[in-house]
Amino acid sequence: MDKFYVTTPIYYVNDKPHIGHAYTTVLADVLARFHRSLDIPTFFLTGTDEHGQKVEKAAKLRNEDPQKHCDETVERFKELWVKLGITNDYFIRTTNSDHKKVVQEVLQELYDRGEIYKGDFTGHYCVGCEKFLTEKDLVDGKCPDCNREVTQIVESNYFFKMSKYQDWLIDYIETHPNFIQPSFRANETLGFLRKGLKDLCISRHKSRLSWGIELPFDKDYVCYVWFDALINYISGVGYKKDAEMFAKYWPASKHLIGKDILTTHTVYWPTMLKAMNVEMPETIFAHGWWLTGREKMSKSLGNVINPMDMIEKCGVDAFRYFLLAEMSPGNDASFTEETFTARYNSDLANDLGNFFSRIQKMTLRSFDGIIPEAVAVGEDEAELIEVTRNGRTLMEKALAEMKLDAGINAVMDIVRAGNRYLEKTAPWTLAKKGEIDKLKTVLYTSCNAIYHVSVLLSAVMPEKMAELQKNLGVAVCDKISTLDVDKNVVANSKMADCGGLFPRIVEEKVEAKAEKPKEVEVNVASLVTIDEFFKTQLKTAKILQAEKVEGADKLLKLQIQVGEETRQLVAGIALYYKPEEIIGKNIVIVANLVPAKIRGIESQGMLLAAKIGKELKLITTDGEIASGASVG
Ligand code: MSP
Repeated sequence: MDKFYVTTPIYYVNDKPHIGHAYTTVLADVLARFHRSLDIPTFFLTGTDEHGQKVEKAAKLRNEDPQKHCDETVERFKELWVKLGITNDYFIRTTNSDHKKVVQEVLQELYDRGEIYKGDFTGHYCVGCEKFLTEKDLVDGKCPDCNREVTQIVESNYFFKMSKYQDWLIDYIETHPNFIQPSFRANETLGFLRKGLKDLCISRHKSRLSWGIELPFDKDYVCYVWFDALINYISGVGYKKDAEMFAKYWPASKHLIGKDILTTHTVYWPTMLKAMNVEMPETIFAHGWWLTGREKMSKSLGNVINPMDMIEKCGVDAFRYFLLAEMSPGNDASFTEETFTARYNSDLANDLGNFFSRIQKMTLRSFDGIIPEAVAVGEDEAELIEVTRNGRTLMEKALAEMKLDAGINAVMDIVRAGNRYLEKTAPWTLAKKGEIDKLKTVLYTSCNAIYHVSVLLSAVMPEKMAELQKNLGVAVCDKISTLDVDKNVVANSKMADCGGLFPRIVEEKVEAKAEKPKEVEVNVASLVTIDEFFKTQLKTAKILQAEKVEGADKLLKLQIQVGEETRQLVAGIALYYKPEEIIGKNIVIVANLVPAKIRGIESQGMLLAAKIGKELKLITTDGEIASGASVG
């Protein structure tokens, strides 16, 4: 690949940025970062769509000049992109004079060549909202916004001869399987095209709308907003201005869009380019929608997720990670606090955070933080090295196939294999047994694996992965192109003693709403394999002491015996058990949970209890058994 040019839709400047905007922009950012990290010249364009009725009206309501209104509202997007660590190379605004000039030149050229003509336009017009509506927009024949009757209006307008490209476009799509992705979206476009393509009305009379780019050949009209907006993809990369830049980056490698703007991008845009004699983009990729639970997000339902709130709550990188790991690009995905917390805790706190803190503790304890060199590579090491090597290959494959969730999962497989490797080689006992050579090998191999993970996930979590590398004591690096499992980057560097990378999120509401017993429903997506199940270590424990937590009526602080070890645990059971009732009970705990602070008190694990409605019972053993015994 000699270059990579990625775009997002340009967002309506009036909207408040929401999770949908954040998703496309983070996806584009991750793709851009990955390609840069592979040393591929990259250009990443995003921006705002600033003309049209809505902006004009919003400005009028505020008694503001539309340009000034845009200058103020655009800041919401710019601020969010800075917060989200977005590395766009240029931010295009359709009110930029450079862009307006290109649009006018294109219009003039197409008009001169007879691709644009004047004709009669018949449309449904809502006088109240001052806008044209298509047949599809109408609800029971009325305006969907104000529910008023619409009037049929016939007026002169300018048209782009889109219909003449119908057969060409059908053929182009059929012979270029990568042009529209995923492929089922190509079928959708083909279905639309086969119904018959009409010419596209590309003007609005100034008496109805003045906030737009004036048609260069008729001062009474402005350009239809989509025709103006789509041109951003070429005007933003030097078209008619910087020939060298345009030649370097065009055609776009990926136009990322949401599924709702498929027709404009896969029908209007290609036919416009064809008429302009400009090469087609390589891929138009339509992703699915973020839903809240199972519902569409909408202002009226009040369920729109605000990215700023999420960043505040969980940090930028965890939010970026969630967006990419949770959505299979192409399909819809669901956002709820529960899905977010579950993924964060399992992937970031338990798997990645835990892997790192284990390695770190052992290196600090046994070698004063200096990462040792490997002494001998055995079968276990070879296995982890293989998974590490594969992680990179699979990530690059996933990138090419736009399956970032699968790529991330392949990298997390390195982490999971790393944790299994530590379980198997048990470096904590190696130290006790004096097997120092083996200990060195285990720590080196683990550090090398986590270093690879940090580079491979840098595009997704740039800040956290840089932090991880600083804690490893190595130079910050996000370049996948430099990775080589056989090259030593980590040995002899000095590890820092940092806090946890991803502190576990503890749900505040520990208890006690009455719940109806749910019907058992087997959701295939929630099935786990036996290996996955056994990642959770369940053990028996004996409660030695119990006391109430001051100021928290639902919590008890317990001291428990787990084999040789005494642990402290905070449990939300105070509404169900008095402290004195539970001392001496043999309970079951999750023993390998990342420690968490609940109300400032450290909790090293979680006890198991069964709950239905207002009843809760501890899971205990059937009679005496030594504490620390495995449960499974
Ligand atoms: N201005 C046009 C695009 C012009 S591009 C030449 C536009 N803007 S928008 O702000 O309304 O939408 C921008 C993008 O946000 C679209 O790709 C749309 O699909 C996406 N999303 C809006 N809501 C969404 C979700 N709930 N989930 C995912 N993306 C969604 O359309």
